[in-house]
Amino acid sequence: MPFDVRATSNAQEFADAVYAIGQYFGGPLTEERVERFKQFLPFERMHAAWEDGEIVGGAGAFPFLMSVPGGEIACAGVTVVGVHPTHRRRGVLRSMMDEQLRDIHERKEPIAALWASEETIYGRFGYGLAAWCGEIKLARTWTAYAQPLDRRGRVRFVTSEEAARIFPDIWEALMRERPGVYRRSEAWWTLRTLRMPDEEAANPKRFAMLDIDGEPQAYAIYRQFPQFESGSSAARLQAIEVVGATPQATAEIWRFVLDIDWYATLEASLLPPDHSLFTLLATPRRAQFRMGDSLWVRLVDVGAALSGRAYAKDDRLVFEVRDAVCPWNEGRWKLEGGEAARTDDAADLALDVGALGAAYLGAVSFAQLRDGLRLEALTDGAVERADAVFGWRPLPWCPEIF
Ligand SMILES: CC(C)(COP(=O)(O)OP(=O)(O)OC[C@H]1O[C@@H](n2cnc3c(N)ncnc32)[C@H](O)[C@@H]1OP(=O)(O)O)[C@@H](O)C(=O)NCCC(=O)NCCS
Repeated sequence: MPFDVRATSNAQEFADAVYAIGQYFGGPLTEERVERFKQFLPFERMHAAWEDGEIVGGAGAFPFLMSVPGGEIACAGVTVVGVHPTHRRRGVLRSMMDEQLRDIHERKEPIAALWASEETIYGRFGYGLAAWCGEIKLARTWTAYAQPLDRRGRVRFVTSEEAARIFPDIWEALMRERPGVYRRSEAWWTLRTLRMPDEEAANPKRFAMLDIDGEPQAYAIYRQFPQFESGSSAARLQAIEVVGATPQATAEIWRFVLDIDWYATLEASLLPPDHSLFTLLATPRRAQFRMGDSLWVRLVDVGAALSGRAYAKDDRLVFEVRDAVCPWNEGRWKLEGGEAARTDDAADLALDVGALGAAYLGAVSFAQLRDGLRLEALTDGAVERADAVFGWRPLPWCPEIF
């Protein structure tokens, strides 16, 4: 390995390693920020690359439990990846990715997932683009629903302390409904999701909760940015996280958000393409949905990963997997009865581990991968059979960049 890479073991190493990404944004870590950040990212999950005793790069991995089709699985949430601009394109990232993947494998986390700053970086390490999301910009004039809404619930503001008690159960419902959601620890809720940083004091987060028959069923976290142009409001309303446990609750909490007075444009991002808002709205075109990539998924242990999700249908499929970075995955894997195992049988599909990662959450089809020249079909009908097995609805949704 050209660079010495190992996990950090104290607060100073941790801060220096995280500061590799701070070279690009965020600034140096203060003691208070290290204290907070280490609540979600233990020292041993933060890798650093050293040259001549100096840290020149860092890569972290949150120990997540993430929802996948029909269940949940241990997942390394790869984060704060950065290399000092003085050391770029000399193999620092590659050294860190090799070591991090080896470590994830040893920890028996079958998959890794990340949000990529650029699409060009992670494919070479076996990550595949596995989920899509998008942002909307909706003028207040265009927020009517297509059908009348029968409101059954009541919305009220809650404090961050109440939110910390109430919101996690609603998030859990989302986790059961969709792949791509990770469980948030208590510290994550209080120190990340609900925290009000000083720099946001002028436009604080507001927390609203909807209950139906006394049961909390949906919440909204949003911020307002007042502004006037030529005497009229040009305010923005930023919907940070709006989640409902049921379709009715989702429709009602979004109605509440859309009806807030005085904003001119509502902005929301990270929404899945099949979000019910697009069928609730009378004029979804006006939301100007712009789609981009969401989670990239890496099968770190192909067998455990494939056995760790549910499937829409049972069939017998054999994959010939290429994996230049994690050689333990190389070779033929048979999926049958929801279980994956090594096999010598002839393969139906040959593909890179990144293509299999792309299909893993059920959002990207094998037909798309074939048409994008990402796989070879070796038996007749293999692509169609694989799609019938892997396809999953609803689509994955990861409502937060980590
Ligand atoms: C992205 C980043 C971590 C790459 O680090 P690096 O040490 O320069 O990468 P390496 O030298 O190990 O490169 C490994 C390979 O990836 C390629 N690569 C690295 N960064 C790339 C980029 N941004 N775009 C395209 N290719 C890239 C290299 O060309 C090299 O290719 P090769 O294997 O074919 O030779 C670094 O540029 C960085 O810190 N960028 C800013 C922060 C950032 O974007 N972090 C990612 C957060 S998700």
